[in-house]
Amino acid sequence: MSIEIRLAEPADAPELHRVIREAFSARPAVDPPADALGDTVDDVAATVRDGYGVLVERAGRAIAGLLMEIDDGTARLRRVSVVPGESGSGIGVDMIATTLIAATDLGARRVEIVARREFPRTVTWWERAGFTKLAEIPHGWVMGRPLPVAVAVPDAEAMRALGRRLAGLLRAGDVVVATGELGAGKTTLSQGIGAGLDVEGPIISPTFVISRVHRARAAGPDFVHVDGYRLGSAGELDDIDLQETLPTSVTLVEWGRGLAEGLSPDRLEVEIHRSLDPDDDERTVYLFGIGERWIGVLEALRSHP
Ligand SMILES: Nc1ncnc2c1ncn2[C@@H]1O[C@H](COP(=O)(O)OP(=O)(O)OP(=O)(O)O)[C@@H](O)[C@H]1O
Ligand SMILES: [Mg+2]
Repeated sequence: MSIEIRLAEPADAPELHRVIREAFSARPAVDPPADALGDTVDDVAATVRDGYGVLVERAGRAIAGLLMEIDDGTARLRRVSVVPGESGSGIGVDMIATTLIAATDLGARRVEIVARREFPRTVTWWERAGFTKLAEIPHGWVMGRPLPVAVAVPDAEAMRALGRRLAGLLRAGDVVVATGELGAGKTTLSQGIGAGLDVEGPIISPTFVISRVHRARAAGPDFVHVDGYRLGSAGELDDIDLQETLPTSVTLVEWGRGLAEGLSPDRLEVEIHRSLDPDDDERTVYLFGIGERWIGVLEALRSHP
């Protein structure tokens, strides 16, 4: 059943409020209790009106959501909620990914959340999503991460050119996780990366072969091109043993979100969005550098779309 993730309107406040209540009531009690349980529908409506809300629906029924405020370039997420029975299904990961793109489009450059000390698994979950602890506060931590660099890509040749530019920033040991619907341009970008790295080709969609190693023609890293489309779990990715080639290669996983995060704590996440107009070939490529490896590295691309 398909899932829709969208910005909420004030009229969605009752549904968003229900989702928040269901999610927070299902958590073990904490002292002091979560503020979320004291929210009224009006409180939620006011936040959506003055800031933003995100709602995730399946067949028209809300199953996850959150509230967001953007202030001075920082997006703050609150009430991040997935209803009981839906948690662990990847909906939270998808909701956050969509929210970070929306926050970027709304002009934010950083995002923050507050995580309670009592929920170490939640802290780990945010760490997997690229958040780090920024400050200790009375009942937990403020965690945050930078938002992506967005690059406009008018056609396939521009996508290859972006790949070649990215290759100039990549080195052995790097992991690239590429996400985007069928035909978004993940393989086209990979072709540019392969050309920039000067590896043996051809680089084609690896769909029927889960992983291919393209050897470097000169001294640089090899390029390992992986397709996660048919892999159901991170465990299946472990089975193809990418760790073996990882240190001497650039490893790129198409459809890697939710699968490839365990490969390396540092990674470059690439998310490709198509234009809403089907006659327009333009893509927007969002580049997220996660971990120390990427601090400041992508800034070079911000000013050269
Ligand atoms: N701006 C653009 N960027 C990238 N590709 C584009 C663009 N405009 C048109 N195209 C075309 O769209 C197609 C993208 O296909 P590609 O195989 O790269 O997608 P993919 O994301 O790897 O798909 P799959 O999920 O099937 O692996 C290519 O035929 C490419 O020529
Ligand atoms: Mg592909």
